[in-house]
Amino acid sequence: MQPKSVMFVCQGNICRSPLAQALFENRLEKRGIARRYRVDSTGVSSYHAGESSDRRMRETAARRGVRVDHRARAVTRRDLEEFDLILAMDRDNYSILRRKAHGDEQRDKIRMFRDFDPISNGEIDVPDPWYGGIQGFEQVYGIVERTCEALIDHLEDQPPT
Ligand code: 4NP
Repeated sequence: MQPKSVMFVCQGNICRSPLAQALFENRLEKRGIARRYRVDSTGVSSYHAGESSDRRMRETAARRGVRVDHRARAVTRRDLEEFDLILAMDRDNYSILRRKAHGDEQRDKIRMFRDFDPISNGEIDVPDPWYGGIQGFEQVYGIVERTCEALIDHLEDQPPT
């Protein structure tokens, strides 16, 4: 079976999208299906490129046994070509990605991450925790955790391509 490729995208690639990548990979491993997937994360901005993930995000995840170990990088044209599913953490990320995409095929691969949140209550964005306190990171963790689980359920329900 062809591996499915999933990319998570936020602004800086130091808080939300590396957490989503780590949680998604962690849950794939728990289900014994990690081999079927290629997973990565990037930012729409290169401002933090080369940096490791935000310490507050790493510590929030580590308290729950999830290791976030990623170097930030900006999304490239090649990512938009190669990945099957490109998930934007908020509407700003989404509109930047859509502008970068070439053609309908690429544009159609870009979705809002919270489209897969089973209890989004109409919320569209994963809030940016960067300027807030630790509570913001805890909130982001909860959103990302349940959405990654639901996303895997969804992808595993799809017929193989
Ligand atoms: P992220 O969080 O997009 O979840 O990685 C941010 C990190 C840095 C900045 C904004 C958001 N910043 O403005 O530097």
